Amino acid sequence: MLRLSVTNVDDAAPGVRQISLADKDTLLPGYSAGAHIKIDVPGVGLREYSLINLDPDRETQDGVTSYDLGVRLEDDSTGGSVFMHALTRGDQVTCEPPRNDFPLAGNPNPLLIAGGIGITPIATMAAYLAGQGVSFDLHYSGREQGSLAFLDALTKIAGNHLTTHYDNTETALDLAGLLRTTSPTRDIYVCGPKGMIEATKTAAAQAGFAADRIHFELFARATPQTGDVAFEVEIASTGDVYTIPADQSIIEALEAAGLDLMYDCQRGDCGICQVDVLSGVPDHRDVVLSDDEKSAGDVMQICVSRARSKRLVLDL
Ligand code: FES
Repeated sequence: MLRLSVTNVDDAAPGVRQISLADKDTLLPGYSAGAHIKIDVPGVGLREYSLINLDPDRETQDGVTSYDLGVRLEDDSTGGSVFMHALTRGDQVTCEPPRNDFPLAGNPNPLLIAGGIGITPIATMAAYLAGQGVSFDLHYSGREQGSLAFLDALTKIAGNHLTTHYDNTETALDLAGLLRTTSPTRDIYVCGPKGMIEATKTAAAQAGFAADRIHFELFARATPQTGDVAFEVEIASTGDVYTIPADQSIIEALEAAGLDLMYDCQRGDCGICQVDVLSGVPDHRDVVLSDDEKSAGDVMQICVSRARSKRLVLDL
């Protein structure tokens, strides 16, 4: 773990803070575009934040003097964004070194799509590509004018390859239209809310993109939904049955009961926690599985998905 100081805090847009972390003049472990760090939020646990770099001339892979983050204050914050927004210069935080689950594949002329604060890894990709002289297009969508963070820097980075979209105007992002007119040989990188990722995957499939051309990362953890109820999970290998409360995920409840489970993102976008469902009906809430896989119901992501039946029997 790294112990870092807050060296700068700026307002980047309404409800969005740009926060810089450093360890005096020590060189910190480097990172590639799309990487994140996990910050230990006291009383909450590790929370993941993408690293943002807006300087095409800044080399980040061999080491950096600061980690820069863009953090939105979430309406339904479980504590992470509230903690981050309360940070002031000189405060200390503990974090894991950078890791990248959303890397650029290295193919030419990628299409970048960001919704809201999903811009943080996408902006870093744009800066990297611009620095490498690789052409790209960036579509950046937000609720209304004035809501988009880092827009001035992105305009300098991407020039006329940046298109902004506002939900409350005729510029609202039309993913189906955009992907219909985009060559399916291009890679798509999308970061934003769940609806945007699902819509991108659907539109890309309809436009003829192969599944491995679509790279995505959710920016928010799953939170309980209105109407969620408790259900049971039976562990097939032992026959033990656990109740999953309405306000806990399967992973949270099973870990609290002492089970050792494999998982990572806890947002439903990495696929690491996937398990086979031997009986029962999952309520899929991830963005990993295809519609066909969700309909089949024989696998599920236990970090976010729940149950439509009273009990699930899982191959654990
Ligand atoms: S931990 Fe990433 S999909 Fe569940």
